[in-house]
Amino acid sequence: MGTSVDQQLKMHDKKEFFYSNKLRIEKFLDNLLSLKTPNKLQEAIRYSVLAGGKRLRPSLTYITSELGSRETKPETEDVVAASVELIHCYSLIHDDLPSMDDDSLRRGSPTCHIAFGEDIAILAGDALQTLSTDIIVQCPDLSDYEKVYILKVISSACGWNGMVEGQLIDISNDLSLTEGDLDKMHLKKTGELIKASLVLGCIISGVSEKKIKIIKDYGEKIGLAFQIIDDLIDLKEDSSISGKESQSDLKNGRITYPSLLGSDKSLKKAKKLTEEAKDLLNTLELNTNKLSLVADYVVERTF
Ligand code: IPE
Ligand code: IPE
Ligand code: MG
Ligand code: MG
Ligand code: MG
Repeated sequence: MGTSVDQQLKMHDKKEFFYSNKLRIEKFLDNLLSLKTPNKLQEAIRYSVLAGGKRLRPSLTYITSELGSRETKPETEDVVAASVELIHCYSLIHDDLPSMDDDSLRRGSPTCHIAFGEDIAILAGDALQTLSTDIIVQCPDLSDYEKVYILKVISSACGWNGMVEGQLIDISNDLSLTEGDLDKMHLKKTGELIKASLVLGCIISGVSEKKIKIIKDYGEKIGLAFQIIDDLIDLKEDSSISGKESQSDLKNGRITYPSLLGSDKSLKKAKKLTEEAKDLLNTLELNTNKLSLVADYVVERTF
């Protein structure tokens, strides 16, 4: 921890594919969210969605959309990748609300409710969820079968048995949570959307169900590792690097990996998970170099 912004940029350069994916999705989102009839809600949506961020989830979709044998149109990849990023952005806006984590900084800027008020922030999150669905439904190059499949994957990952349930467990502040409970919570609140982002690229590029299963197992491992590192960043990193309030979990009495296992064991666990994730990739007869770099990135990152 404590990496300078310069070092962080070098990390991006090293993972050039990751950075170019970030620029690509941001261009698409900027265009998608161009203000037609400017109002406070649209401004809040643009503010939160275009505020930066690593764009990990759309990058994963771009990467897996290269894996299958079916040729995919770049515009279709953009729509599907944007769909997951819009859900992610909604989840961040709602996660920061006073009734949830009550945070004032996100991606280095005031959180949506601080900038626009709580009422508008709730509506911005609501609108992003349906926009995520709407762009899939309206995508001209997806078949009806693919649309339903994609929407099923996203809704299962993010609903009451997925991300939202993970958030429910998190806000319970239940002191009796075990490591196994924490695994479940992290997998749901963070792992499910990461897994879905991978699966969606596989669907549009025609990766076989057998291979999708292995990629899902890889996604669970990097998803869990990603949230363990998020917990460590929350505890140790300065907000000037993380772009978020420091020690928000402590403030809210959240049960996290470092609070349960300590920092060293948590980091070890995250590293072990990424090694296991890379081992899984070796069982796939596909070019998985980029997914292997992503696994390393997940534990190297400091924001
Ligand atoms: C933050 O996600 C919320 C978690 C699920 C840990 P990211 O760390 O991917 O946030 P951005 O998109 O880069 O801002
Ligand atoms: C948020 O987890 C997970 C979701 C938004 C679903 P955190 O509360 O740990 O995320 P940060 O640290 O605020 O980004
Ligand atoms: Mg939270
Ligand atoms: Mg939070
Ligand atoms: Mg966190």
